[in-house]
Amino acid sequence: MGYNLLKGKRGIIFGALNDMSIAWKVAEKAAEEGAVFTLSNTPVACRMGEVVELGKKYNAEIIPADATKVEDLENVFDKSMEVLGGKIDFVLHSIGMSLNVRKKRVYHDLDYNYLSKTLDISAISFHKMLQVAFKKDAMNEWGSVLGLSYVAAQRVLYGYNDMADAKALLESIGRSFGYIYGREKRVRVNTISQSPTVTTAGSGVKGIDGLIDFSDRMSPLGNADAEECANYCVTMFSDLTKKVTMQNLFHDGGFSSMGMSLRAMTQYNKSFETDDISTKY
Ligand SMILES: NC(=O)c1ccc[n+]([C@@H]2O[C@H](COP(=O)([O-])OP(=O)(O)OC[C@H]3O[C@@H](n4cnc5c(N)ncnc54)[C@H](O)[C@@H]3O)[C@@H](O)[C@H]2O)c1
Repeated sequence: MGYNLLKGKRGIIFGALNDMSIAWKVAEKAAEEGAVFTLSNTPVACRMGEVVELGKKYNAEIIPADATKVEDLENVFDKSMEVLGGKIDFVLHSIGMSLNVRKKRVYHDLDYNYLSKTLDISAISFHKMLQVAFKKDAMNEWGSVLGLSYVAAQRVLYGYNDMADAKALLESIGRSFGYIYGREKRVRVNTISQSPTVTTAGSGVKGIDGLIDFSDRMSPLGNADAEECANYCVTMFSDLTKKVTMQNLFHDGGFSSMGMSLRAMTQYNKSFETDDISTKY
């Protein structure tokens, strides 16, 4: 049951690939809260993916776009305003991809062409999206734009690789554009730093199962799942959060503020009793 938090609002949701995607859950919640929206993903994902089903379910137009191409993004905003019947109130950037991660290149042996692609797809596309929307004056006042991030932007989490650099850039773009968009048009820009979550993009990260388990045990509230992330996104799209902008908002059960938990300390002490691993690393 929804609360009509997004009644009358128009949105664009980038990045729903399958029913595990965070963007998929956001689409479901946005519909539940009364919003209308368009969906966008790469042409391949739109052709082959399950996103067609999602579109049908919510009567949402699917507009293919490679988020690294400005002309594609221009088309998404133009078409969305046309089919939704006016300016846009919320945008979700839920896009990430690293070829270095996919091809198992470690951080001290990066392929720089792949790194450029990682940064373009996962971070600079956020700037492109914002710039296109700004130049077209496509957002309503008090509109809300969100990108999805991860705590590896601030802390080293082995295996996250060059995506950590992409997330640091994504968060910085959110702040820098948030200043201009807020000043000029009263549009809010934020990033949500989400717990590790089982999705297609998430599963590419080296050691993701261990990482998910570790952060779940380390967080006092446990990991946040994709549906909980969608709830937070909807709140951020609503008028209840009108003065929140230029923030990186942790949605992680408390993980980002933890150093050592009681449970981790107990486990750590046990490791001294059972083997000598602590002297090696
Ligand atoms: N899963 C996690 O553990 C986790 C944690 C924190 C943040 N995030 C972030 O959440 C966002 C969504 O990821 P997800 O976990 O739902 O995985 P996902 O694989 O379902 O979504 C990633 C999406 O990016 C799209 N994409 C890739 N290249 C693109 C391009 N050039 N143009 C347009 N779209 C493109 C994919 O088609 C896919 O829909 C990403 O930014 C991810 O980094 C994920």
